[in-house]
Parts: sequence; C-alpha cells; structure tokens
Amino acid sequence: MPSGFLRFPEGFLWGAATASYQIEGAHDADGKGESIWDRFSHTPGKVADGGTGDVACDHYHLYRQDIGLMRELGLTAYRFSISWPRVYPTGRGQVNPAGLDFYDRLVDGLLAAGVQPFATLYHWDLPQALQEEGGWPNRSTAYAFRDYVATVGRRLGDRVKHWITHNEPWCTAYLGYYTGEHAPGLRDLPAAIQATHTLLLSHGEAAKALREVGGPGCQVGITLNLGPAHPTSDADEDRAAARRQDGYLNRWFLDPVFLGTYPEDMLALYSRLAPRIEPGDLDAIRQPLDFLGVNFYSRSVVKADPSAGFFQMAASPPRGPGHEYTAMDWEVYPEALYELLVRLQADYDAPKLYITENGAAYRDVPGPDGQVDDPDRLSYLRRHFVQCHRAIQARVPLAGYFVWTLVDNFEWAWGYTRRFGIVYDDFPTQRRTVKSSGRFYRQVIADNGLQP
Ligand code: FCB
Repeated sequence: MPSGFLRFPEGFLWGAATASYQIEGAHDADGKGESIWDRFSHTPGKVADGGTGDVACDHYHLYRQDIGLMRELGLTAYRFSISWPRVYPTGRGQVNPAGLDFYDRLVDGLLAAGVQPFATLYHWDLPQALQEEGGWPNRSTAYAFRDYVATVGRRLGDRVKHWITHNEPWCTAYLGYYTGEHAPGLRDLPAAIQATHTLLLSHGEAAKALREVGGPGCQVGITLNLGPAHPTSDADEDRAAARRQDGYLNRWFLDPVFLGTYPEDMLALYSRLAPRIEPGDLDAIRQPLDFLGVNFYSRSVVKADPSAGFFQMAASPPRGPGHEYTAMDWEVYPEALYELLVRLQADYDAPKLYITENGAAYRDVPGPDGQVDDPDRLSYLRRHFVQCHRAIQARVPLAGYFVWTLVDNFEWAWGYTRRFGIVYDDFPTQRRTVKSSGRFYRQVIADNGLQP
C-alpha cells in the first residue's frame, strides 16, 4: 500500500444501517399491527410529500436481493431494526409468529452471506395500541418493551449476537412528544421529558432481559444520536447555551446509562418538569454494556436566545464560504466526530464504540446511462473515515462503522424527498443501483482502509 494509507485494525466491521419502517414496506402483511408511523404518515400534512412506509423499499419481499447487494459491497455487518408491531401487533399479549419468521429468514440469510447481524429493537415504530395507552410517557410501556425484547431474544439469540436496545431515544422523546415532527406528533414538553425516562428505563430492563435469554457471546448496547455543541461566540450566554444543548442532547442520555445519574444542571433546568423517577430506576438504567452505538451526522452550533422557547437557545450554524451543508441543511463538519469520540472515551469509558450511523443526503440524479454519481457523499464518507481512523490512533476503542444507509428509503417527515443511500432506489420499479459512493465504500472495505 502507498505511504499515507490509513489502515483500520483487523476485524474492524464495515456495515450499513437501516430501520424497519424506512425500508420494509408490507405495512399490513402477515398479521403486522399498526405502528405510530403508519398512523402518522397516513395523517395528511405530516410527511413532506405525503409519503408513507406502506411499500418503502419493499425490503420485506426483496430482502434476499438486498443481502445480495450487501455481498456485492463486501459488508461484514448489517444493522437493521425489528418492527415491534410485526412481532406483537398490539404491543403485548398475542405474538404474531409470521412476524418473527421474517426476521428469522433475514438473519439466516445474513449469516449465510457472511454478514454479522446487529439488531436494533426499537427504531421508532411503536405499536399504535400502546400509544393509545399513552405511549412512551407511560411507564408501563417500558415493561411491554422488555417482554417484547425477551421474545425476540429467545427466538434469534442463538444467531444474533449484537443487540441495540434503542435507536436515538432523544428523537423518540423530543421529536415525537415535544416538537411533534415525528410520530405520534404531540407537542407536550413534560410528556417528552417523562418519555426520556421511560425509554431509559426500558433500555435497562431490555438489557437485563437480553442477558438472560441471549445465550453465549451476547453483546448489548444502545445507540444515541450525539454531537459536540459549540457556542456561536465566546459570550457567556452563548457558552451557557452550548452547555444546555450538550445536556439536552448528550449528557441527559449518557450520564444515566453509564454513570447512573441525571446531570444536575439539567435536573435544575427542568425543575418541576423533571421526570418522575421511582426508587431503583437509575440502578436499572445503568446496566453493564458491551458497547455504545454512536449516530453522528454533524455538530450543533448554538446561541442564547431568550425568546426561543423553554431551552432559550437557537441553532446558529455558520454560513458562507468554507462551510458546507448537505441536502438536510446539516453542516458537514467531520472533525466533530473525532472530538466526540475522544470525549466519549474520556468521560464515559465504554468498552467499545461503534458508529452505528453516519452519512449524508444529497440530491442524486441518475445519469443518462442510469449510473448515479454522488461525489459529495463520497467526499463526506471519506472525510469521516479519516476522523474514525484518527480516533482509533488516539486509542478510542472504535470497532466498526455503519453507513446510513444501504439504500435510499423513507426519510421520516421528509418522506422520499431526501436520499441517504449508497445505493439508489428507483422507487416506482424498486430497481437498485450502486452509487459511486457505494463503489468507493466497497473499495475501502476490500482494502480495510483508504488513502486520504
Ligand atoms: C437518524 C435516524 C435514521 C435516519 C437518519 C438520517 O436520526 O436514526 O433513521 O433517518 O437520521
């Protein structure tokens, strides 16, 4: 290899991530129950283009072909999520065997292709029946989740060795119950704060359940959406705003999971809105974990803004020459990934880290020959790989990277208007075409590294 080549450690996992509601389709097939995203996406005005996950990438039917794509790309791991209402149509009680059978076939297919399955147990598709009982702000949802997780663990635990309890509980709670951008679309801050606590409790309960049923080699973790929070200026009030953003996004989840406490400054800020916590909850939340999953897209830059709602801060991303943005209007700032990883290692000391999501949306258009050239995404990935490598050099125990995402899919409130895939999906025909970023990724995987 030429000098300057960045080689990753042997056994470093190279994967792609997806989520059930975003790719599976088959929204009512084989006994699946309704999820909050089925309900939300069918409510007019909630999703940008009126899109729904009814069909999405039809992965429920095309999963064999998609495993073929993973092979073609050389992926060594695949992160997918399990749809709770496929397994328990009303959240608890009667299990739907056909739902479990689907994941059984998927896992067997992955293993036969030499791809390690990483299963996420909650990526936002709560059974609608549980939402009718209050959803995540309702404590009993944590115990329903634990029981569902135990059922899945019993069925797949002989083959699935990596489990992720939750995907981005910040989004579940705040986008779902506070800003209303995501299902179930409520705007109720106290409910959202209470939801964070139920989610964290359910993580702890699920982790315990997985240890009991998961069999030998069972590895349990949680995936959080994290990012450094930078102040827009050196002014005291902006620095305080950045500290609040860090508490809101990062520490509120990291501290209870790894340290068994909620951050004092945030408890003080929430004051009478702080969640109801029962004795023993924080011990239940702080379970020994095998890894932390990190979803990283960008940093936040914030300024103090007394008129900006409860948190009194506003996003203040730098614009102009030298600043790049994706089609989500998210700043491209790869150094923040390094900063984040080193800080996580220093403050929380997780035994292992995985980047469980990282990637970018751009407005991809197939050329006349049908090929999809996406130099911006390729460059985004390249620069983030460099930061991963840098972090490993700094002794961060980073063990794998999952690109978001395998194939263009239903991007939540943005519907089908934002493409994140390294594979293009022509939705009307479901034809998949590997983009140039996908070919680049294949080469990085084959070489286990890159020339920066
Ligand atoms: C993350 C979600 C994932 C995807 C990406 C773009 O917050 O976990 O499902 O939508 O953002």
